[in-house]
Amino acid sequence: MQAKTWHLGDSHQSLVLASFADTLPEVVYWGPPLPDTEDLKQLAAASATDVTGGMVDRNAPISLCPEASQTFPGQIGLTGRDPEGRTLAPQFRFESEASTSHGLTLTYADSQHDLNLIFELSLTPGTSLFRMQTRLETAREITVDWLAAPVLPIPAHTGEMIEFSGRWCAEFQTRRLPFAPGARMRDNRTGRSDHAHFPALIACSSATSNTGGEAYAFHYGWSGGHRMVAEELADGRRQVQFGHASASMKKGRSFSTAPLFATYSASGFNGAAIRFQRHLRENIVVGAREPRPVHYNCWEAVYFDHDLEELKAIATRAAGLGAERFVLDDGWFGLRDDDTSSLGDWVIDKRKYPDGLTPLIAHVKALGLEFGIWFEPEMINEDSELFRARPDWVLGSPDQVRGRQQLVLDLAREDVRAYLYDCIAPVLAQNDIGYIKWDHNRVLPVVDAAQTEGVYALIDRLRADFPHVEIESCASGGGRIDFGILERTQRVWLSDSNDALERQRIQHEAALFLPASVTGSHVGPRVSHTSGRTLNMSLRAWTAAQRYLGFEMDPRELSDEEIATLKEVTGWWKANRNWMMRADILRLDVSDPAMIAEQQLAEDGERFVVFAALLRTSDPILQQPVRLTGLDAGASYRINLVNREDAPGLSRGAPLLKENTLVASGQYLMSHGLILPWRFPESIWVIEGQRQ
Ligand code: DGJ
Repeated sequence: MQAKTWHLGDSHQSLVLASFADTLPEVVYWGPPLPDTEDLKQLAAASATDVTGGMVDRNAPISLCPEASQTFPGQIGLTGRDPEGRTLAPQFRFESEASTSHGLTLTYADSQHDLNLIFELSLTPGTSLFRMQTRLETAREITVDWLAAPVLPIPAHTGEMIEFSGRWCAEFQTRRLPFAPGARMRDNRTGRSDHAHFPALIACSSATSNTGGEAYAFHYGWSGGHRMVAEELADGRRQVQFGHASASMKKGRSFSTAPLFATYSASGFNGAAIRFQRHLRENIVVGAREPRPVHYNCWEAVYFDHDLEELKAIATRAAGLGAERFVLDDGWFGLRDDDTSSLGDWVIDKRKYPDGLTPLIAHVKALGLEFGIWFEPEMINEDSELFRARPDWVLGSPDQVRGRQQLVLDLAREDVRAYLYDCIAPVLAQNDIGYIKWDHNRVLPVVDAAQTEGVYALIDRLRADFPHVEIESCASGGGRIDFGILERTQRVWLSDSNDALERQRIQHEAALFLPASVTGSHVGPRVSHTSGRTLNMSLRAWTAAQRYLGFEMDPRELSDEEIATLKEVTGWWKANRNWMMRADILRLDVSDPAMIAEQQLAEDGERFVVFAALLRTSDPILQQPVRLTGLDAGASYRINLVNREDAPGLSRGAPLLKENTLVASGQYLMSHGLILPWRFPESIWVIEGQRQ
């Protein structure tokens, strides 16, 4: 059968599409790079599968949008109704193709239903990440219930998937599950990417580890809730679909999915992770300050209890520890003494700040720090001037369940967005503010893509008018983290948990997609406010120093010893941030389940740092060597244990690194690994490496 073929590829991967007799294109190859000499027509021809008893006479393809009209035996890529309410079952045919800078646009049409289906596909050079989007256009108003971003097949030898779930204070939980006949579906109808539904999937084989094996990784770049289908068809083939949460699109003439980002890795989870990390840093995030300033947030120091003199004293202490930005959190506006009132009334509280924010900002600026401020623009309390004036601005029905005593404003409304702009812009214009922490503390009462588009429009307008103001995406911690929000923000508040042990896991899993430069990690109070656990300063500080460092405790509670450790670690972070914030985070495969270890490797491969945290007591008495990764096997590296003074008295032996540096080949470091001194649980070793 005559086929059109297309190849998108680079030195890391190839993806070959074929369209037979002008029907929708399907992926006939996705994997390691193919040679230039490969005959794509042959690959197309070779993709034909057999049929036998009990099957229809031709297997419907897993096309970029599997069609009911082709008798597709699984979840289809488009469901909707025509203006008369009849179920759509289009038969798309090739219309046109156009090259774009790093990819192509393919247009297919169904003349009977007057529909155009457009696929935009590109492979970003350098970061080797696919960006794929589907658009549906029609002359008549139709209803779309489900539209998948370009649908991709998963080969049979990748029989497992890693899925993401979580909760408040425990984001980025991963589950490794086998594929099995039937569909594994996520339909996140919370209206935000949410703690429980980070929009991603990694397909892999049982042998895939952080450092080796094959992986296919996907991330849907949308903040409004997504639907994912990972399906094994009855005939054994597998497909992955991502799109907006079901029923979040409504009636219209034009529908678009968010971009689906995807990549194939032949070098384990790390191979995929560094593509996402680099792509986010280089192609998604815009306007992030460099060097990244050390952050201080006053939430866990004062909560709603704002007192100018106390805040000034706290800022002075934070500056002394090395902070370069001070963020005034919730409680500065309306009459907000707790979380029951004032959301929507974005006016400085004269009881707490009789002379406005200027005295505090002037103090912070005199210390040499940037000033940042908290907003939760999308929300409203019933106890607010705004609600009393405009109860009709609320999204959803009046008798809906409240979340944190608050309701959501309908951001699809132009007048609501204008009101919020008119509240926020003067605060930014009249005060020397360089940073917003943008919070979002409840799920939506209805799932609606227009709400997310409204939020995007509001942020875009503010960013255009105040380009120097960085924004942090927070939603009770990590409830809104995705490449959609990160196109317009520069940092994420990964979790409300400042418990370093919990953070170790959360940030380790998040590194499958997020680079250090956007991942906020704060040194919390000695006794964690969210877990009640007491942790030592070395673990707390080094854990935060693995990412974008900040502090979030009352600095007046710190002992002299804690201050000394924190200052030392902060000094180390400042000395290293320029290369570390651009480094690849490589997760290490460790033999001890009590340990989480990772290696941050500089862009030029000349230096690295390893963080090896022991979360609990190990089973064996001797600790297992930590094997490194990503090094040049033939090169020599000098290895130094940065915090050797943390070795406890019970470490009685003489491992080399306890007293000396080690010079060894990349081969030795990757194959044998480092023998580290014995230590207590709930502690961390920090090891630097420099190519010789
Ligand atoms: C939830 C955030 O995650 C916290 O860091 C803090 O900003 C509170 N909201 C303020 O209400």
